[in-house]
Amino acid sequence: MSFMEIRDITKRFDRQTALDGVSLGIERGELVCILGPSGCGKTTLLRIIAGLEAADSGQVLINGKDCTYLPAAKRNFGIVFQSYALFPNMTVMGNVLFGLRQKNLPKDEITARAAEVLRLVDLLDHKNKYPRQLSGGQQQRTALARAIALSPDYLLLDEPLSALDAKVRVKLRGEICRIQRVLGVTTVMVTHDQEEALTMADRIIVMNNAVVEQIGTPREIYNRPATPFVADFIGTMNFYRQNGETRAIRPENIGLAERSGAYDVMARVKSLEFKGPLTRIHGTLPDLDEILVDVPSETAEELRLHEDSTLFLRLPSEHLVTYPAVM
Ligand SMILES: Nc1ncnc2c1ncn2[C@@H]1O[C@H](COP(=O)(O)OP(=O)(O)OP(=O)(O)O)[C@@H](O)[C@H]1O
Ligand SMILES: [Mg+2]
Repeated sequence: MSFMEIRDITKRFDRQTALDGVSLGIERGELVCILGPSGCGKTTLLRIIAGLEAADSGQVLINGKDCTYLPAAKRNFGIVFQSYALFPNMTVMGNVLFGLRQKNLPKDEITARAAEVLRLVDLLDHKNKYPRQLSGGQQQRTALARAIALSPDYLLLDEPLSALDAKVRVKLRGEICRIQRVLGVTTVMVTHDQEEALTMADRIIVMNNAVVEQIGTPREIYNRPATPFVADFIGTMNFYRQNGETRAIRPENIGLAERSGAYDVMARVKSLEFKGPLTRIHGTLPDLDEILVDVPSETAEELRLHEDSTLFLRLPSEHLVTYPAVM
């Protein structure tokens, strides 16, 4: 049995179905990302795992125990939200001490523990500052310190990085992964940023329209998307129809062949998009479908590709993903 078992959870708000029979397992010590478009049910699922929301039906088991009806206050978890949610009238240290004081521990122990987690998130030098004196990244690290101070059984993060600018976001991604590994704490993080999920997660749960579309490692999700939705949602994908099936292939997996060599399809260059190391070719197939092909920019130059150049494309079968449904 997994550390966390979500069994057939359904949740409705009025006529809106937020979760429709969601089942999944999360292993102890894993960092799992829940990824999906806005409104697909990510936060609702996280709130049910926290006990902040009650499911209409289904079960939540944590550490072998049925927690479906256990209120949040009786569950031992740490949580960080998108908005920093710090106490503005308390210092960094004060914010971290706040939760610790609810436990009846000796004062020295509480202070030592607060200092320990602040060192872990690299904020010890800022411990006497108030939230308004901190950058967004420092505020989120304070929230993280507060969430882990009580040694939670599990950590829940709801888009903790989305309010930060791109550079801080990337840095904090690494920080969260490092801290998660040091603590070995089972972590569930909600995001709608696929790059965040691909770089951080041990496994990704892809959701759409209140259901789970696929659960897998970042590589499995990227290389073998189980459904056309996942294929389309993660990265860039070409879709084309052949023999009543839909086939998908990523732009970087399409090869260029010599005119005299074997090839699978011919295309015409519509435009070229220089992206630094890669050049993205926007091509047109004979049946007027569009196709995207990524080639090293060096290759594009050597071949002197230009608008209206003819391309002989190879679509290696090992990179083709086939879906029975016609899209
Ligand atoms: N308290 C509520 N009352 C009514 N409807 C709600 C409530 N909470 C969520 N919903 C609805 O349930 C659906 C799922 O919402 P949820 O917040 O789980 O989405 P999300 O995947 O977290 O989206 P986002 O990426 O925008 O945060 C949405 O259609 C939303 O409008
Ligand atoms: Mg949400």
